[in-house]
Amino acid sequence: MPKVTMFGRDYTCESGANLREFLLEQNVALYNGPAMLNCHGFGTCGTCAVAVEGKVSEPGGPEKIRLGLPPHKGIEGGRRLACQVRVLGDIKVTKYEGFWGEGANIQPALVRS
Ligand code: FES
Repeated sequence: MPKVTMFGRDYTCESGANLREFLLEQNVALYNGPAMLNCHGFGTCGTCAVAVEGKVSEPGGPEKIRLGLPPHKGIEGGRRLACQVRVLGDIKVTKYEGFWGEGANIQPALVRS
């Protein structure tokens, strides 16, 4: 069972879990502010972008296309779309500031209770 670490907390998920769905199930605030109005996991809005360290699925075509559009900087920009990521091993997830999570500064911890 992979461990997902985000905002300093550890969670355990099933291997192959969709990262967006899993984080929302854990009440982790994946979206910044008004980005709660998002595409609900279709990979088109880009607001679920996070940095991921660890074993996850490779990015597919739609994810590469969306990350290639501003304000993202392509796959090489180091962000992934949580809605397109499958968790395959222990990972650390970092959310950055900005509507799309595109900022340079780490978002302070946002875990709903
Ligand atoms: S939720 Fe819109 S791209 Fe992931």
